[in-house]
Amino acid sequence: MRAAGYEIKASRRLGYHLVQAPDLLTPEEVLPGLKTRTFGRKVHYFPALPSTNTEAYQLALQGGREGEIVIAECQRKGRGRIGRPWFSPAFVNLYLSVILRPPISPHHASLITFVAAVATAEAVERFSGMKPSIKWPNDILVKGRKLAGLLNEIHSEADRIHFVILGIGINLNVDENMFPRKIRSLATSLKREMGQAISRKAFLQILLEELEHWYEIFLRKGSSPILKAWRARARIAGKQVKISSFDEVFVGRAVDVDSEGALLVQMRDGKQKRIVAGDVEYTK
Ligand code: BTN
Repeated sequence: MRAAGYEIKASRRLGYHLVQAPDLLTPEEVLPGLKTRTFGRKVHYFPALPSTNTEAYQLALQGGREGEIVIAECQRKGRGRIGRPWFSPAFVNLYLSVILRPPISPHHASLITFVAAVATAEAVERFSGMKPSIKWPNDILVKGRKLAGLLNEIHSEADRIHFVILGIGINLNVDENMFPRKIRSLATSLKREMGQAISRKAFLQILLEELEHWYEIFLRKGSSPILKAWRARARIAGKQVKISSFDEVFVGRAVDVDSEGALLVQMRDGKQKRIVAGDVEYTK
């Protein structure tokens, strides 16, 4: 236990005494006090991995069940959207992947990203009192800077999903000067915003509760409560946007998202365009 960072006092009279527990995300730390039915009930914990999504994908191929999670203290090849890397330093943040097996068609898989974006934003609000916003498709922002990102990967056949890997990266305790220079002015952490260190374990427990809650709402009631909560945080309708998508750049006015999670944009020539992947910049 000492090797894992626990401080233990040994005395001949009193035996062993735990002085300080490190803020690790092992199942022994995470499970006590976790109030979920399935999410996070089985934790696959790793001090380091190339990517929690890759590991969870392999576990799911081997029969891993809904709600099982993969956690790593750091990632050597953390992956972001559109082939980008995800900055994943050790012991300060959260790198989490959840196995899901939703009984929905692959067309609706991107709604799972909306479920996760709403749940993550709600978890941040419940934990900190701050009101994060969502930027299409699934960035979680606080005061305009990125706090968390989501990467969902799906394994399916034509009309049936086998599983979805819900990958979430959240900057919790990373200090600003640790961020690579390129993203320093664009990114933030919960510690920076709250002005105090965050218990990663407490945050993870809240996040798992919110994920399970919103996922159950989605399974029971469908997409409309999810899209309603998503729209309230994204406030995208009417915004002037510049969109980079597959090496093309468009400017226009955002109209809404559709039931498959695509962004609808009114172009200058009056035509409406449906964007399925890319990056959005608000220009006004
Ligand atoms: C984004 O580009 O905004 C998505 C970032 C997703 C990062 C998370 S960290 C846990 C999981 N494992 C990965 O390799 N990526 C996701």
